Amino acid sequence: MPDIDPATKSMEAIVALCKRRGFVYPASEIYGGINGFWDYGPLGTALKNNIRDHWWKHTVECPPVGPDGEPVSIVGLDSSIIQNPRAWEASGHVGGFSDPMVDCTESKKRYRADQVEVLIVEGKGMWAFMENQPDSITKKLKKAGVALDDGERKLLTDLELSAYANIVAPDSDKAGTLTEPREFNLMFETFVGAIRNDSSKSYLRPETAQGIFLNYKNVLDTMRVKVPFGIAQIGKSFRNEVTPRNFIFRSREFEQMEMEWFCAPDDSPKWYEFWKEERMRWWKTLGVSESNLRYRDHDADELAHYSKMCVDIEYKYPFSAPGFGELEGVAHRGCYDLNAHTRGTVNDKSGWKNEFSNAKMEYLDQERQLKAREAGLSKEEINAQSKYIPNVIEPASGLTRGVLVLLCEAYTEDESRPSKVFMKFKPKFAPIKAGIFPLVNKDGMPEVAQKLYMQLREKFTCQIDAKQSIGKRYARMDEAGTPYCFTVDGDTLTDQTVTVRDRDSQSQERINIDQVEKFLAEKIGE
Ligand code: GAP
Repeated sequence: MPDIDPATKSMEAIVALCKRRGFVYPASEIYGGINGFWDYGPLGTALKNNIRDHWWKHTVECPPVGPDGEPVSIVGLDSSIIQNPRAWEASGHVGGFSDPMVDCTESKKRYRADQVEVLIVEGKGMWAFMENQPDSITKKLKKAGVALDDGERKLLTDLELSAYANIVAPDSDKAGTLTEPREFNLMFETFVGAIRNDSSKSYLRPETAQGIFLNYKNVLDTMRVKVPFGIAQIGKSFRNEVTPRNFIFRSREFEQMEMEWFCAPDDSPKWYEFWKEERMRWWKTLGVSESNLRYRDHDADELAHYSKMCVDIEYKYPFSAPGFGELEGVAHRGCYDLNAHTRGTVNDKSGWKNEFSNAKMEYLDQERQLKAREAGLSKEEINAQSKYIPNVIEPASGLTRGVLVLLCEAYTEDESRPSKVFMKFKPKFAPIKAGIFPLVNKDGMPEVAQKLYMQLREKFTCQIDAKQSIGKRYARMDEAGTPYCFTVDGDTLTDQTVTVRDRDSQSQERINIDQVEKFLAEKIGE
């Protein structure tokens, strides 16, 4: 079956399937939910863990082979979510991690200014809507007697403040209710200990990366690593996003998979290119089709405060199609972070003025030192060549965004089957690898099915299902994306064979029950 263009898939249908089949539920649903938070159900958790384990395996345990033909060296880390608040001052997050935001004085809603688009129809009016959602203003336009194609679309941030008086906000019917943009810090604040004041204030981490920089010296001193090397971490991050949206794409609590690659400054362009290509290759190993992925280089004016260069790996989500949206960023962070944590920052209010962390982040490159000595260079020249603050190349991806990509990629409508839809996960990432069914719940079949299940579950995530008709069981497994189902029937008791049904082709064949484990191992493989 050819790959299906995500543009033809409906986000509403994907979200509904996720709820129905236990992939993703709205958090606190019985209390009406909480915007920007999601719970991963049994199948979503399994899918997420499969992506997580694959990343860890191919980043930490079996890292790729580098440009010199040797496997690169990467170690793992699991740092605290809450760190000393000074870390976030030094990293620039307290001062700079913010989005421009506008409020609507009528609807009391708040929007990220850079995600609001405005339709400008000369002499008729200006209507704002959330980026890529022009359909939301269809009714208003009809009332005003204009059509979407009658005017030009611009980002709110590209308009002068003087134009705001004429703009009808996304959730309002009259013009002039949007405030001017203000910066809004995205970090969630909390208090450490019993006393709640400025000195006990801390933050939930907005990225896992800083925990890695804070431990760079520890790892260097304890792990016998030498530059170039990487430190990898997977974990939760929190951002008080102004407009969480598009299901789990932009949430307020999410998981990241980040790796900080420490290298000599003059080697950094080579490693930037290496990680850019390597990360794209990795996403394809998850079964994401090439036509739905692309690179997008950041323009100079959109680079984060720490970044010298950045390229996004983007996916064609159903809500962005025919456009693409971010999946992972590969950034050249220079020596920004290690330098920042050495110098510390100045904060008059809390009395930290002129107090620096003073941690020595400088690296002595012994191989370069030896080469420079052998070349007979002066002491100054040897130092200049062998002592440096490492540069950092950072592939930073969203684990939960990876879950969304696999859900969108797998969602396949098929009128020919009872479920009308199936999830075409690459078998290795499917939450359940095999369904095991006794044809009827009697005549010795449940016992044989149970025995097979007990044997297979040691190696593969399996589910035994004896309820309802075989057709209904296949339908459930199709929606869960289970690649193979094995049915124990009357013949099994006499000739020791079971039917195996292939999810994608729906074809069935009989194989010996002893061969099921081998069959699955071959099919699921790497
Ligand atoms: N340490 C660098 C960093 O955090 P980022 O581009 O802000 O860079 C990296 O985040 C990745 O984390 C993104 O490419 C995206 O996949 C994921 N991510 C960021 N914000 C997110 C959010 N609010 N919800 C879900 N995933 C998010």
